[in-house]
Amino acid sequence: MNVSLSRIYIFSAAHRLNSGMLDDKQNVNIYDKCNNLNGHGHDYRLEVTLKGEPHPQTGMILPLPEMDKQVESVIAQIDHKHLDKEVDFFKDKISTAEIIIQFLWQKLAEKFPKDMLYHIKLWETNNNYFEFGKEYHA
Ligand code: NI
Repeated sequence: MNVSLSRIYIFSAAHRLNSGMLDDKQNVNIYDKCNNLNGHGHDYRLEVTLKGEPHPQTGMILPLPEMDKQVESVIAQIDHKHLDKEVDFFKDKISTAEIIIQFLWQKLAEKFPKDMLYHIKLWETNNNYFEFGKEYHA
């Protein structure tokens, strides 16, 4: 029987939300404080859920040190960075949490055995979170 395992990771990153497809006034109206010229930061909280059959030898879906190693290798690509300036993925994308969670899903999916990554949830502030997972695929 499949069961799920969820674990929480914290990272920090800076960004500036500004769309090249909008003019300055529109950018301020839409992104408000997140349009601040010199950027700003967030402490993000990422919840990663794996799903699968517990392995007969261990009784676990995946040993936690292995899960941590894989997730942390992805987080290291954005932790304490300015997303728009330092991370190639965001060079031509707007670093909203909606797009950051797509980045995380793509990178995490490469790190786990097929179909093991099930769901991720990204908290940008205490008030808003974003989700992506298998059920979101078209
Ligand atoms: Ni922001």
